[in-house]
Amino acid sequence: MPMTQEEVIQNLGDLPPLPQVATRVMRISENSDTSSEELQNLIRTDQALSAQVLRIANSAMFGMRREVTTLTQAILTLGFSTARAVVLASSVKNHFNRGPAGPQTRILWEHALATAITGSAIGKALRFPAPEEAFLGGLMHDIGKSVMALQFSERYDALLATFCDQEADRLSLELDAFGFDHAMVGEALLRSWKIATGFQAAARWHHDPLQAPPEHRRLVALVALGNKVASDLQADLRASDALAGATWEALDILRLGEGTYQNCRTLAMEAFEQDKSLITEF
Ligand SMILES: [Fe+2]
Ligand SMILES: [Fe+2]
Repeated sequence: MPMTQEEVIQNLGDLPPLPQVATRVMRISENSDTSSEELQNLIRTDQALSAQVLRIANSAMFGMRREVTTLTQAILTLGFSTARAVVLASSVKNHFNRGPAGPQTRILWEHALATAITGSAIGKALRFPAPEEAFLGGLMHDIGKSVMALQFSERYDALLATFCDQEADRLSLELDAFGFDHAMVGEALLRSWKIATGFQAAARWHHDPLQAPPEHRRLVALVALGNKVASDLQADLRASDALAGATWEALDILRLGEGTYQNCRTLAMEAFEQDKSLITEF
């Protein structure tokens, strides 16, 4: 019997907090006249963050025609909600850096960014109204893994080693060993950060999108497809095989036939090629 959400939180102990700048960014309301100015002032307080926002505004992902050199331009061109997404993304990146800087941390980050880029590229191809949500959802979908690696480092490492030489899928190994899996942990973390429920759903259901609440199902499906393409790109064959069910569910939700899916996949892989430098630059 899997644990309830409350039990998961009890077992995790203290969850890492969301960086302050992100908490403040989330509080700025989108519809006030001064929101862009507030966002700008907040970003300006953090030099590293300002540089990141500019870099991302100039990435192929957000497709600027001319080089953007100032924060004001960046926010104007990106639009408020994308600029806010970028700030949040940069905080998530810093969260990934909290743990020991081993190869696992790097693999997790690369996978998160690859999922973000490919999922939002598929979203764009399908004219999903908010592809930056697929970007953020992808970035945070496996954040539960980084929490587990942080809180239970030795036990979780041992489990990852088992995963490499056993024919079981990772979620059920986690569930057997801990009573919860990275999807449940991710949801618990994002909930404690008061991150929008769509992203909580992406963390919770990316391995089983049909279980997501109906209003978030399309977003979760995009993240699931990004996750699949990212695993293929990383040549993580076992992970990729284990995602067959989730992929099938996602195609069903998005009503995608095989031909359209293959086209989207190609576009997503091209988007990754163009933007993979973000992995190191971000
Ligand atoms: Fe996952
Ligand atoms: Fe994943």
